[in-house]
Amino acid sequence: MTDILQELEDRREAARMGGGQRRIDSQHSKGKLSARERIELLVDDGSFEEFDTFVAHRSTDFGMEKNRPAGDGVVTGWGTVNGRQVYVYSQDFTVLGGSVSATHAAKITKIMDMAMQNGAPIIGINDSGGARIQEGVDSLGGYGEIFQRNIMASGVVPQISLIMGPCAGGAVYSPAMTDFIFMVKDSSYMFVTGPDVVKTVTNEVVTAEELGGATTHTRKSSVADAAFENDVEAIAEVRRLVDFLPLNNRQKPPVRPFFDNIDRIEPSLDTLIPDNPNQPYDMKELIHKIADEGDFYEIQAAFAGNILTGFIRLEGRSVGVVANQPMVLAGVLDIDSARKAARFVRFCDAFEIPILSLVDVPGFLPGVTQEYNGVIKHGAKLLFAYGEATVPKVTIITRKAYGGAYVVMSSKHLRGDINYAWPTAEIAVMGAKGATEIIHRGDLGDANRTAAHTKDYEARFANPFVAAERGFIDEVITPSATRKRLCRAFAGLRGKKMQMPWKKHDNIPL
Ligand code: HXC
Repeated sequence: MTDILQELEDRREAARMGGGQRRIDSQHSKGKLSARERIELLVDDGSFEEFDTFVAHRSTDFGMEKNRPAGDGVVTGWGTVNGRQVYVYSQDFTVLGGSVSATHAAKITKIMDMAMQNGAPIIGINDSGGARIQEGVDSLGGYGEIFQRNIMASGVVPQISLIMGPCAGGAVYSPAMTDFIFMVKDSSYMFVTGPDVVKTVTNEVVTAEELGGATTHTRKSSVADAAFENDVEAIAEVRRLVDFLPLNNRQKPPVRPFFDNIDRIEPSLDTLIPDNPNQPYDMKELIHKIADEGDFYEIQAAFAGNILTGFIRLEGRSVGVVANQPMVLAGVLDIDSARKAARFVRFCDAFEIPILSLVDVPGFLPGVTQEYNGVIKHGAKLLFAYGEATVPKVTIITRKAYGGAYVVMSSKHLRGDINYAWPTAEIAVMGAKGATEIIHRGDLGDANRTAAHTKDYEARFANPFVAAERGFIDEVITPSATRKRLCRAFAGLRGKKMQMPWKKHDNIPL
């Protein structure tokens, strides 16, 4: 028996070494951790249960029968993050470049199936040279099996992708279909075709980093949700994110202990809105001041800064926040901000996370570029997402809510549950100046009359009371009491149940 146990240990040890010390050192020299080191950091100490340690590929082409490393380039299993179950796969670049064979893919799909059956998130750590070239279509088929499961799992269990090395060609489409993508600066990249192909086809000269690095994807393309300095930081942030999320779409998000007074009054919020309606203020200040312990987990912070998306907790419970940011483009809605917020709203709705909308929006951004690039359809995404969402929806209008943007931003008309306004709210078709220029066009030559019209319009509409008279605003609240009002509002909505009419699925404008 001793010999048998020793053999098991020897085999395990060989598998743990992946592609060998030289390749692990090479991985470290690039600032990257190994597949197993990443899992160790991701899950709670001692919680990882590995599967398929000894799986080896069955390929016999190109001399592959002589190179059959245990594990086949990916480590799979489950563990816990702060005590809650997650399924994990971590590609091992030291073994055949982490390339995806049929068996490598089967290891991944096995844990994806288990995650679905057991209702736990899937976290994929990607570090791979792509389809295993020696396997041809078997490898492509393996990718297809992973893709199909990404689709089936979407909206059922949270899916999170960490990109920690190469991720190129069709391989990018698995992470692309997951809920969140985190990248590491200078050591990860994603592109459909690499710099060499780009040069041949379009004559453009770019580096891999410029084409598909973390900065590109968090600032330009919005493919990725966040970029981090190194593997350790990225993994720590995934652990933080998991804490906000339910394990699956049938559970509520976790309730965490909180050490913040629900009735906390914030006197500074009474003076957050500047006297001059055209002067910006930082909406993040409001978010921090209402959140439990001031904690705001921002998603897509580097993209479309005119809208903020992310998670806070109120009374220890996760709340998704969508907020116009007056500091960037006056908080206007445009193609990028509408897309960003729509996807976030749909994530929250799919996973039973209540939504808080903080509104200060002067309208949609005008312009040829916006129209040519389809602001109509992209803006409609956000409208559609809010309108179909059945989770508790609480809205606060802090200042401007003009035109279509008033309706879009989780208004009462889109089944907003509780819609508050600060006394500084201005709810109207447009700003007073623009309105005067249209309805009193004949008086434009007369500065005094124009000023009088503008003042009149402001007096009539630059307040929340017209909307409150109609019940479109449920209550005008004191800014300093916002946290208390929000905690009460969401507490009152905990039992909310709402049915949608039967349909196969909707047809959101894509
Ligand atoms: C088999 C691969 C491999 C692959 C890398 N390796 N990629 N083996 N299939 N796709 C092996 C290498 O031969 C090498 O083995 C080891 O992994 C490390 O690779 P290096 O090239 O030494 O590493 P590095 O210099 O860091 O370069 C990394 C790389 C490069 C840029 C990823 O390896 C590369 O270009 N690989 C090919 C990428 C590719 O074209 N893949 C197919 C994409 S199409 P040894 O034994 O020498 O250490 C695709 C389609 C998916 O993926 C479709 C889904 C529908």
